[in-house]
Amino acid sequence: MCGIVGAVAHRNVSNILITGLKRLEYRGYDSAGVALLNKDGLQRVRRQGKVAALEQAAREAGATGFTGIAHTRWATHGRPSEENAHPHMSGNGLALVHNGIIENFQELKEELEQDGYRFESETDTEVVVHLVHQELEKRGDLFSALQHTVKRLHGAYALAVIHESEPDHLVAVRSGSPLVVGLGIDENYVASDHLALLPVTNRFLFLDEGDLVDVRADQVTVTDVNGEPVSRKEHQFDSTHEDAEKGEYRHYMQKEIFEQPAAIQRTLEGRIDSPQAVSEAFGEQAAAIFDRVKSVQIVACGTSYHAGMVARYWMEALAGIPCQVEVASEFRYRQHVVPEGTLFVTISQSGETADTLAALRDTHTSEYVGRLAVCNVDGSSLVRESELTFLTKAGPEIGVASTKAFTTQLAGLLMLVLALGRRKGLTDERIESVLDELRQLPNLLEQAASLDTPIRELSRAFVEKNHTLFLGRGVHFPVAMEGALKLKEISYIHAEAYPAGELKHGPLALVDKEMPVVAVAPNDELLEKLKSNLQEVRARGGELYLFADKKAKVTAGEGIHVLTMPAVPEIIAPIVYTVPLQLLSYHVAVLRGTDVDQPRNLAKSVTVE
Ligand code: G6P
Repeated sequence: MCGIVGAVAHRNVSNILITGLKRLEYRGYDSAGVALLNKDGLQRVRRQGKVAALEQAAREAGATGFTGIAHTRWATHGRPSEENAHPHMSGNGLALVHNGIIENFQELKEELEQDGYRFESETDTEVVVHLVHQELEKRGDLFSALQHTVKRLHGAYALAVIHESEPDHLVAVRSGSPLVVGLGIDENYVASDHLALLPVTNRFLFLDEGDLVDVRADQVTVTDVNGEPVSRKEHQFDSTHEDAEKGEYRHYMQKEIFEQPAAIQRTLEGRIDSPQAVSEAFGEQAAAIFDRVKSVQIVACGTSYHAGMVARYWMEALAGIPCQVEVASEFRYRQHVVPEGTLFVTISQSGETADTLAALRDTHTSEYVGRLAVCNVDGSSLVRESELTFLTKAGPEIGVASTKAFTTQLAGLLMLVLALGRRKGLTDERIESVLDELRQLPNLLEQAASLDTPIRELSRAFVEKNHTLFLGRGVHFPVAMEGALKLKEISYIHAEAYPAGELKHGPLALVDKEMPVVAVAPNDELLEKLKSNLQEVRARGGELYLFADKKAKVTAGEGIHVLTMPAVPEIIAPIVYTVPLQLLSYHVAVLRGTDVDQPRNLAKSVTVE
């Protein structure tokens, strides 16, 4: 969804900008650009393709400046091309970068064309830079030009602007798209995500919706929409920027898969010491709100939605609490009934997903007992706008396909089920036994990840295929969905997941030797039923790939390939069985030669509708 970086310093900022863009590439990577102010005025370099292409072009052009803005794009309006890449300019001296969508750009464009402005791109963004130019002519300074421009915009945006006649600062605004301010020593910055700036600072201001900011090398001024100064709390991050480096791994996704034991360890640490202590991880108000909960509504997108689906099985089976789960883009646009005593739960790695955030904001007109965000980013919009938060401590996740965020979300959601269940008669003894299972997770995830080599072997069978079916039963159906999502996201193989019992109601028609069928078959109460479903596949000549433990007693044979998993306690099995599916997709994608960390057409943080 595009990434923005801006910097003002007493030194050349081009490296800060390009490094920042590389760290934001997960947000979009079809074109990139930079604009810098130096003694000769404004210098702009743009390139189609990844930030590496821009880096080389900027080096060749000798692009330098003490003040600058930069952008990596994920196309919404207008195809990926150099003309559509940001920064956009008006005249020779004004440049602007934008993340988001301007909904009324068509009307604004017509007005501006009547006023004599000429458009060089197909983007919605170009109207904004011309509007700033128009306001600048009227008002004479960049800050008030931006302040008056935003009054005319509808939609979601984070904007950063520079002008050659005011070379010692940049101005920026946040409304509907994320933007943070980084505080350095005699230099300051803005970016779509604090990750971009970790190489230069660990001190940040998170802007509120509607905030404008004037960034100078030695001063940062934040104001509300009316230009009234406001103060925003400073956050300090402990994690060093090495967290976001690939290290010895070939891809971020691979690193993040193998980081899962440690990520879960961090997420659980100090939070599962006793059944009584579990609710403390959800915030100060948790106990009072949880006491009133009679049902749960979960809303999320993508992988986070799958985590919610797993949680629903746990919530109803363990805590006996009715639980609904829905994708945010549907939930927010339909009329729904809110049962009395409903807790509204959002799940999100980034905390900035536009549909999830919009669904949360809509809840303020409904009678929920409270709002809980299960989220990986402290200070993100979802966290700030919810009364309760469970912070998953997965660390930065860079690969577009989500891995460690998912498994840490599941750990947090299982804790939520225990905290709520305790109020509904789940005994401390039962809770203690689930906590024991949770304590075994890092070790079991380690064992699952150690199956990397046999899974890599298995992956060869998928490389030439165009379709794959994933099957699971019960709580393992959403695990199968997550497996299918991973495969399609990064290997571009069409993959679908079915609850195994539904096979005979349609998808069986597709099964032949060209359609591999992957089944998640832990040794649980539905195993025997699943085995019958698998016979249906074999009888049609389908090749089966089973992920099962020894006790499941499934033996490999003609057309049946078995990957033997460690024995896993039943409740936490969905978390452990996720790992081999992640590895399978990873290896298939590597063998197919796709761009694993930045698959085509996708972006990690979807901050537009
Ligand atoms: C995008 C990402 C997915 C992610 C989804 C929800 O589609 O590519 O990996 O699951 O957004 O993101 P969130 O940050 O809300 O979990």
